[in-house]
Amino acid sequence: MLHRLKFLTAGESHGKGLSGILEGFPAGVPLSEDIIAQDLARRQMGHGRGGRMKIEQDHAEITSGLRHGLSLGSPIALWIQNKDWENWKEERMSHKQPDALVQEVTLPRPGHADLAGVQKFGFTDIRNVLERSSARETAMRVALGAVCRVFLRELGIEIASHVLQIGSEKFTPEEITDLRVLNSKADNSAVRCLSEDASQKMIKHIDTLRSQGDSVGGVFEILASGLPVGLGSYTHWDRKLDARIAAAMMSINAMKGVNIGDGLNVAEAPGSQSHDEIVKEGESIRRASNHAGGIEGGMSNGELIRVQVTMKPIPTLARPLRSVDIKTREPGVAHKERTDTCAVPAASVIGEAMLALILTDALLEKFGGDSLEQVKAHMAETAIKP
Ligand SMILES: Cc1cc2nc3c(=O)[nH]c(=O)nc-3n(C[C@H](O)[C@H](O)[C@H](O)COP(=O)(O)O)c2cc1C
Repeated sequence: MLHRLKFLTAGESHGKGLSGILEGFPAGVPLSEDIIAQDLARRQMGHGRGGRMKIEQDHAEITSGLRHGLSLGSPIALWIQNKDWENWKEERMSHKQPDALVQEVTLPRPGHADLAGVQKFGFTDIRNVLERSSARETAMRVALGAVCRVFLRELGIEIASHVLQIGSEKFTPEEITDLRVLNSKADNSAVRCLSEDASQKMIKHIDTLRSQGDSVGGVFEILASGLPVGLGSYTHWDRKLDARIAAAMMSINAMKGVNIGDGLNVAEAPGSQSHDEIVKEGESIRRASNHAGGIEGGMSNGELIRVQVTMKPIPTLARPLRSVDIKTREPGVAHKERTDTCAVPAASVIGEAMLALILTDALLEKFGGDSLEQVKAHMAETAIKP
């Protein structure tokens, strides 16, 4: 559901690397590999990650679309090398038929793409599915989102995230402050939670489940500030900003629910407590509250955008669940691959990237412009901020 911007990713988890292309991005945006590296490092953090993140130190190389530090308006292509490929290139991930017989993966993991994937493509080796269905791909989305974040910042728009829940441990902050401050505070917690006390409880919860060979999910919140009124549209289903954001979040591996604003809670609360009264503040017309999470009628209303996303527990378990061998048809237990116990903190950074891509698209759709200066000029002329 992108209208002005396009992006593509390619790459397998243990393949040579990840490729990404961003098309439709304006000229004149100051970019560097260092800026992208900051978000890639944030994605690699978080208590509960497995051994893979110790091997990789993700770095995105900008291979096209940039000259003298500024975007050219042509497609931006990025490349992230998988360091782990060195260990896999001769056999398991060789592009050619390897000399030695490679052990096939035949015991699908419940909750992963394994079984439906082999059945869909007619594969006999689950590795053909798991390599691409792995969340490794999201490293490239974070890199592409980091490019969009620079553009958004130039327009005064900030995106941040924090973790609200890991398993049964929860923390909701009483008020949301400046999003840059919020994000750096979240970055300082090993679980990206804004409370030190709750962070410790979440860490302990992850450790307990890890020691039991189990995994855990949770909820994170993504916020965006500084948005003009009218991004997205009520005029057609695929132009609605909330629908576009929800689809983007659900496209992240293991995300199972998206709330905008008060989300599911509105089922219980009466209308008087679910809608945001319209009030006059000086010369501006504003909302007295923000139950809607910054979106009404599929359009941004100028308030803070609030999106909560629920992640399911990681499917690969050290103490695996029951499964059936797709070759022998014998019952067994699921395949074990090196795995995370909890990836909710990392997922919140991926959510930021997806929101950055969606908001960049919606801004370009509304204001147009081939260069950053043109977009700025169009916004200065027509943008309504509350
Ligand atoms: C940052 C991140 C890391 C993940 N790490 C793992 C992992 O180590 N092991 C695993 O089985 N699943 C992991 N997942 C989840 C799977 O990729 C996901 O459950 C799988 O692709 C099936 O897709 P679905 O859950 O959306 O149905 C991770 C997801 C994210 C967002």
